[in-house]
Amino acid sequence: MAFSLPDLPYSYDALAPYMSRETLEYHHDKHHLAYVNNGNNLLKGTEWENKSLEEIVKGSFGKNAGLFNNAGQHYNHIHFWNWMKKGGGGKKLPGNIEKLVAEYGGYDKMRTDFIQAGVTQFGSGWCWLAVKDGKVIVAKTANGESPLVQGATPILGCDVWEHSYYIDYRNLRPKFVETFFDKLVNWSFAEANFA
Ligand code: FE2
Repeated sequence: MAFSLPDLPYSYDALAPYMSRETLEYHHDKHHLAYVNNGNNLLKGTEWENKSLEEIVKGSFGKNAGLFNNAGQHYNHIHFWNWMKKGGGGKKLPGNIEKLVAEYGGYDKMRTDFIQAGVTQFGSGWCWLAVKDGKVIVAKTANGESPLVQGATPILGCDVWEHSYYIDYRNLRPKFVETFFDKLVNWSFAEANFA
């Protein structure tokens, strides 16, 4: 299935001042588009040409690095746009997630661990909340990888590539991940992934 760039689910100004129009224009219109275009070129003629995006990501992992990197980033970014909303964040979690987070050790521990994962991911990558074997886990991955290829279901991910925060936060990745968590997270979409 050929990749296509989805529109943002909000206006380019919707996430300001926490994520600016300029960041979204570069990140969505240029970086995400490049993953779509490169992915489509690399997909042509492969065994995955007619598969779903999720099947392409899982199938190409460890077998076709070029395709995997671009398909993985396409998958991650489609979700990333939806994992944010105007007026997001806050401690009020949807019921399904609240229950799992309580088992994990509570909101504050989960928040601390998620931010720590984003801060300590060396180089480009992502930090995650995912569900594996019925439990919430916090994870970090390099480049275009995600918990999807580790047998888990990603329910929240934050892009910690420099292109995600450098315009608004310069080198202050910790400040970016904290702000993402406290001001932008769309917990309803996180729950929809879990369901
Ligand atoms: Fe990105």
